[in-house]
Amino acid sequence: MHRSRLTGKEVMLKGKKIVLGITGSIAAYKAAYLCRALIKKGAEVQVVMTPAAKEFITPVTLSALTQKPVVSEFFTANDGTWHSHVDLGLWADLMLIAPATAATIGKMANGIADNMLITTYLSMKAPVFVAPAMDLDMLAHPSTQHNLEKLRAYGNHIIEPATGHLASNLEGKGRMEEPDTIVTIVGATLAVAHNDNVAHNDHVAHDDNVAHNDKTLAKKKILLTAGPTYEKIDPVRFIGNFSSGKMGFALAETCAERGAEVVLIAGPVHLQAIHPNIRRIDVTSAEEMYHEAVKYFPKMDAAILCAAVADYQPAHYAAGKLKRQPGKSLTVELKPNPDIAAALGQMKTNKQTLIGFALETDKEWTNAREKLTRKNLDFIVLNSLNDEGAGFQGDTNKVSIIAANGTSETFPLKSKKEVAEDIVTRVL
Ligand code: C5P
Repeated sequence: MHRSRLTGKEVMLKGKKIVLGITGSIAAYKAAYLCRALIKKGAEVQVVMTPAAKEFITPVTLSALTQKPVVSEFFTANDGTWHSHVDLGLWADLMLIAPATAATIGKMANGIADNMLITTYLSMKAPVFVAPAMDLDMLAHPSTQHNLEKLRAYGNHIIEPATGHLASNLEGKGRMEEPDTIVTIVGATLAVAHNDNVAHNDHVAHDDNVAHNDKTLAKKKILLTAGPTYEKIDPVRFIGNFSSGKMGFALAETCAERGAEVVLIAGPVHLQAIHPNIRRIDVTSAEEMYHEAVKYFPKMDAAILCAAVADYQPAHYAAGKLKRQPGKSLTVELKPNPDIAAALGQMKTNKQTLIGFALETDKEWTNAREKLTRKNLDFIVLNSLNDEGAGFQGDTNKVSIIAANGTSETFPLKSKKEVAEDIVTRVL
């Protein structure tokens, strides 16, 4: 029989006892696939469902997949057997609640133990992962955000929902992350925890899938900006750019792997931050990115500004969709956006390091040096659109790093992850 080599993350799930909590969201249909994916990685899964979850997926499907009766009620109706949430809390190596509705998140945050899933959560001794799924406005509501913040403060891992088509037929952030990605995130988090526990153990072979052993950034706090910004013209249109966020996310992963606590302010991107030391804050516009960056920067040791921030935004937002006017041209007046890099450059203390990026098409070095000085940066990473394989969207990049003291270093074309390693090694 052919057996592929297990990666570090997969080894992490082998033999793990997992309580899979399922709640009443349309995304519950994905729980069957998630359950199977966990079992395929060698995990033992016990499903706990809320009563509402049973409206979306039948317990029979899940008990057949897990080969265990599904737990949902406090008692079995016919013989009065008590289901012990305390036992489940002790049995599990981890709990994963996917999908987690706004209602369940609210109950978890506030200890409202009116169903078996919440009592199990409150009894849980093991790490808890939460994969929210809901409509975009429910997710954005301050109440939900406040509850998620509370769960983070309790030490739970929040698996950020993805952006895309929602069951409400709206587009936005709120889709439960895809099951395979959830499995990757859970495995990676366990690998990091495992590696931290055995950090000085020589028996741990280096494996790219297991956490990095270089912890030179331990106790450091690093701010990252990544991706594009969208500047709204009317309810359905925006000005944006082709930035994918890949370079910024690769830098965030690299800093986190080396032990840093990372705050990643991300514009609209289709990427997932995997490492548990990354605190992700999603924003849409340059102004939102500016407010978050200015708020977090004073607590940071360094900031790497990788985002392709729009330089301008429409001077007037049209509350209704702009209508086509046949034969007439349309002029959208633009006003400047705040320059985040320049603002942080002004705020910077001599204990902080500030790194910017310059994506240039002509007079690359002159322009990059001018930005370095004007924005009061310590380093600027130059990528030229004239270099094949460099810049937006792709998986590779070719950069030069220019320091404020005038020195510079040019690197060959590499994957964005390798470029991130080079940048972090050089500047931090
Ligand atoms: O757009 P520009 O070429 O000036 O960008 C250079 C650097 O400044 C980049 O690091 C970018 O992230 C940052 N920047 C910013 N806020 C802006 C514009 C650019 O932080 N409004």
